[in-house]
Amino acid sequence: MKKLLYIIIAIVAIVGVLAILRPTKSHASGDKVLVAYFSATGNTRGVAERLANATGADLFEIVPESLYTADDLDWRNDKSRSSVEMGDKNSRPEIASTIENIDQYKIVFLGFPIWWGREPSVVDTFLSAYDFSGKTIIPFATSGSTPTTEQADENIRTIVPNADVLTGKRFPSDVSAEELKTWAGEWL
Ligand SMILES: Cc1cc2nc3c(=O)[nH]c(=O)nc-3n(C[C@H](O)[C@H](O)[C@H](O)COP(=O)(O)O)c2cc1C
Repeated sequence: MKKLLYIIIAIVAIVGVLAILRPTKSHASGDKVLVAYFSATGNTRGVAERLANATGADLFEIVPESLYTADDLDWRNDKSRSSVEMGDKNSRPEIASTIENIDQYKIVFLGFPIWWGREPSVVDTFLSAYDFSGKTIIPFATSGSTPTTEQADENIRTIVPNADVLTGKRFPSDVSAEELKTWAGEWL
């Protein structure tokens, strides 16, 4: 009888230790972390994938209903799709992808290419599509040369005034997973 009791205690102890050691995707406080991104030509996608891998966050791609062609992306043509959209701050191009349960995320890393100094309009659609109240949004971006996400940070704050939008960061497209992990570690 005593032996059985010892076995039960041992099993409970082992299960307890395993539960504590179990790797989790959750943020330290128990909130899950999301890396959401838009990428037209792959640079931001690479950064977002490395960031999600390095932090154990969930990854979500903002996929436009109508994908951007090379002609759409021609910034030298003021009539191209991107030029027209970016010329109108109220432009909200449709998104094809949906997040299943945004409520589970407290921290959202939001990635995009800098277009005309700011976030692409389809990112504005994403921000308008969900309730970000009480969430922390941390922008990150790739760009040809624009050094910061300053203008994007400001726009994002206007679109989601009830979220805590932190100062974002622009990364070179070949930024390492280690550097991303260190950067994100400040909030995780
Ligand atoms: C329409 C358009 C506008 C852009 N505007 C800027 C800009 O204002 N400043 C900048 O440094 N790069 C600009 N770029 C370059 C992109 O930010 C850069 O190539 C980025 O890494 C692309 O990311 P992606 O491959 O994830 O789409 C622009 C690119 C496009 C297509």
